[in-house]
Amino acid sequence: MDNPELIPIYIMGKRYLVPPSLTIQKAMEYGGYTLVRGCGCRGGFCGACATVYRLGSDYKLRIGLACQTVVEPEMYLAQIPSFPARRPQYRLEELKPTLGQLLALYPELMRCLSCGTCTKACPQNLDVRDYMAAAMRGDIGAVADKSFDCIMCGLCTARCPAEEVQYNIAILCRRLYGRYLAPRSQHLIERVAEVEAGQYDQALAAMKQMPVEELRRQYNARDIEPE
Ligand code: FES
Repeated sequence: MDNPELIPIYIMGKRYLVPPSLTIQKAMEYGGYTLVRGCGCRGGFCGACATVYRLGSDYKLRIGLACQTVVEPEMYLAQIPSFPARRPQYRLEELKPTLGQLLALYPELMRCLSCGTCTKACPQNLDVRDYMAAAMRGDIGAVADKSFDCIMCGLCTARCPAEEVQYNIAILCRRLYGRYLAPRSQHLIERVAEVEAGQYDQALAAMKQMPVEELRRQYNARDIEPE
């Protein structure tokens, strides 16, 4: 007789009874799995724990991060710790921030059907279809902006009927934006020059000698937003 306080879930097709308060990740560990791959930060940031699941006889395929999604009765789980997405090699300093460059590296970009399956698959609730439309226009800044919260879990690509690699295209755009298009920060340029001129060497050397308690006191008393 099953313990009524536990609920049934299916991991790799095998039935397990687990407490209903657990996340998928913890339920797998409760079931005896040691997570070596497909588990990183446990906090919803690293994208290592992409999961596809179905509930009972419902036809609908659902997605989630195993570390963030709480188990439900009759959950049929499939982990996707990595997906064989295409990822061309490049050297950022040899690239140009143009549509032509995106197409040279990802010629499949224009095969996007704008079906929105990627958007539905995103556990970060990003409008992936929208940033793919921006990529097809060559608007690299918009792709960088709209994909900023991507955690590279790969679920968009896993579900895409056109075999796009949305998340790899998006990180290329973020890199191109950061390297070539983002406005330079004058303040940062000046601070780097000060560091290189040795302006902080003495202060740093003194801090290295400081007892931890004094270091902590000075840190807590610091001027957070200096004029
Ligand atoms: S383990 Fe990092 S996002 Fe889930």
